[in-house]
Amino acid sequence: MAEHGEANIDGKLAAEFAVPSHAEEVKKQMSAFAERHGAAGRRVVLITSGGTKVPLESRTVRFLDNFSSGRRGASSAEYFLDSGYAVIFLHRHRSLYPYTRLYSGINILDTLQVQHEDGASSSSCGQVVVNQQALPNIAKVLKRYQEVKEEGFLLPIEFSTLSEYLHLLKAAAQALSTIGSRAMFYLAAAVSDFYIPASDMPEHKIQSSNGPLQISMKMVPKILSPLVKDWAPQAFVISFKLETDPSILLDKARRALDTYRHQAVVANVLDTRRGYVVVVTPDTQAELILTDEDVNKGAEIEDQIVSNLTAAHSQFITKDA
Ligand code: PMT
Repeated sequence: MAEHGEANIDGKLAAEFAVPSHAEEVKKQMSAFAERHGAAGRRVVLITSGGTKVPLESRTVRFLDNFSSGRRGASSAEYFLDSGYAVIFLHRHRSLYPYTRLYSGINILDTLQVQHEDGASSSSCGQVVVNQQALPNIAKVLKRYQEVKEEGFLLPIEFSTLSEYLHLLKAAAQALSTIGSRAMFYLAAAVSDFYIPASDMPEHKIQSSNGPLQISMKMVPKILSPLVKDWAPQAFVISFKLETDPSILLDKARRALDTYRHQAVVANVLDTRRGYVVVVTPDTQAELILTDEDVNKGAEIEDQIVSNLTAAHSQFITKDA
């Protein structure tokens, strides 16, 4: 990926990316969440998940999107919660969500049945019951989901557009700066590298009667740079590197570490990302692999990724103390 113009990113953010109307409110929620869990001595991870949407018109009819389903982020959130972390889940609206992701391909109406009490007329509505076989492990998953919710360990925040993502990530970084090295950033979202500044965007729907469309897009500032240097300099930061060509992956991951000076890169290739990743740090390189046997047992690679990174985070905190 090309390096992006990094000078004065804060100014660029303010000038070229519309601030979401709820940014201040969300920042307050995130600050309160970080303070509460920080005071309890808990670590907090900010997970970004899903793809950003880049509008082509101000009154948006069309936009550029990407492939990310949010599965990496959603499943990682569950493993972080199981490891005792509090989780801010900054995710694309309608992308996969912790726990419900396990049932995302299922039509809810195929899991329910109507039961009529004896003697009730067939025209009465009856009681709706769940067919548990249609929802594997539902009782266990529901119990865990409710525990996490009741204990207030998961703070979900949504974004759709690139502008929302950038501003909310900055707000999250500022909110988490109060807990220093106990904060982790796990940047699994697929963020657009290109955008059209609001000042260059047509207001109305682009007309096909004008013929073939040519668009010119600018480079999005690389947000890792101010995140690591200015917004949350004490935090443990993990970026992800996605490529389609495996031969350039590790080199790109190393280059990202050299450039941004953060703690780790999780490197993955589009087609094999569910079963193979490499966690690269300045001094180490760990290949994580899901075998066929693991897959048959229902294991997920995110379990290994999270366990690798939580151990590295412990060492990071110890060094900081
Ligand atoms: O959601 P799934 O379908 O499960 O897929 C998971 C995944 C493949 C999306 C995930 O594992 C992954 O690799 N996410 C990062 C994809 C990506 O955007 O890679 P990149 O090489 O373009 O960006 C590298 C890093 O720079 C990312 O951590 C990103 O957060 C960060 N970035 C990107 C653009 C930008 N303007 N500023 C940034 O800081």
